[in-house]
Amino acid sequence: MVASDGTRGGGRRQNAGGPVVATAPAKINLALRVGPRRADGYHPLNSLFHAVDLVERVTVGPALAGGDELSVSGRGAGSVPLDQTNLVWRAAALARREGGRRGDPVRLRIDKAIPVAGGLAGGSADAAAALVALNRFWGLGLAGARLIELAAELGSDVPFAVLGGNAIGQGRGETLRPLAAAAPGTAGALEWVLVTSGEGMSTPAVFAHFDALGLAAGRSEPPPIPPGLLAGLAAGDPSLVGANLVNDLQPAALDLRPDLGHVIGQALAAGAVGAVVSGSGPTLACLAESAPAADALARDLAARLAGTHPPGSILRAAGPAPGAAIA
Ligand code: C5P
Repeated sequence: MVASDGTRGGGRRQNAGGPVVATAPAKINLALRVGPRRADGYHPLNSLFHAVDLVERVTVGPALAGGDELSVSGRGAGSVPLDQTNLVWRAAALARREGGRRGDPVRLRIDKAIPVAGGLAGGSADAAAALVALNRFWGLGLAGARLIELAAELGSDVPFAVLGGNAIGQGRGETLRPLAAAAPGTAGALEWVLVTSGEGMSTPAVFAHFDALGLAAGRSEPPPIPPGLLAGLAAGDPSLVGANLVNDLQPAALDLRPDLGHVIGQALAAGAVGAVVSGSGPTLACLAESAPAADALARDLAARLAGTHPPGSILRAAGPAPGAAIA
């Protein structure tokens, strides 16, 4: 059960002045259908978002000195900006604006597990976890719906990182309709192998390349989510889901990074029931029939890609996972 502030039932109560920890998940777009660029520069989407159990942790505590502080540890920490471009600062500014014990300077720590600039919305997960943690730390009492509104001010993928599960996203991705979701580890869960890449990709650059290649030519709106994908999710049928994975940004991402096409081929040859570029890439989301099949796929891909993908670059994940919550 999720309380109005994102707290999950049974969870230990945190705070009373002490640090607060919140987590938020990575996302994979099971479908990412993209329409022509709008006047505001964004692209209208029909997206099927799926949260996976690869999570960021954000800890909020009292600042040691006079002003707010931010530090980052974990995967790819060295390439995360600590300046005002980090969404977590903007999340803190928004949360402060909402009141409560506003003004208390905070110490924010991000512990990363999601690859940076990987197409898995790791930065959005940081912002979502920060909102949820600050909501508790400052005693703001913001309900889930308000958190999602604030999240939309931070970025297109932040609302889904708050919500989690499976959801259809429209607009620029921020207008969400949750779908009934099976719990991880039960029938209906999806078992993934994520093939990450040493070098990240810029989301605006991939959308710009989508435009340059004319990939929305003849479209006035984003195409629909494949009915087979929705049927596969509802039935808990990984093969049906895998056969219907679709990402309209994929041709643009592959044109910028032809090496990704080779990896998709290897994943399918190694028995994946589907493989797709996640979001704007470069992470590849490879779907397996079951958890043991995904473990075997991860081992097989590690051997096939040993020359280009060091240990640790191929990850297991399962979804759907819950949205941002107090840990
Ligand atoms: O919303 P967010 O700041 O995460 O978006 C980053 C960039 O990705 C935008 O500036 C835009 O270039 C691109 N984008 C887009 N259409 C969307 C979402 C993002 O063109 N629906």
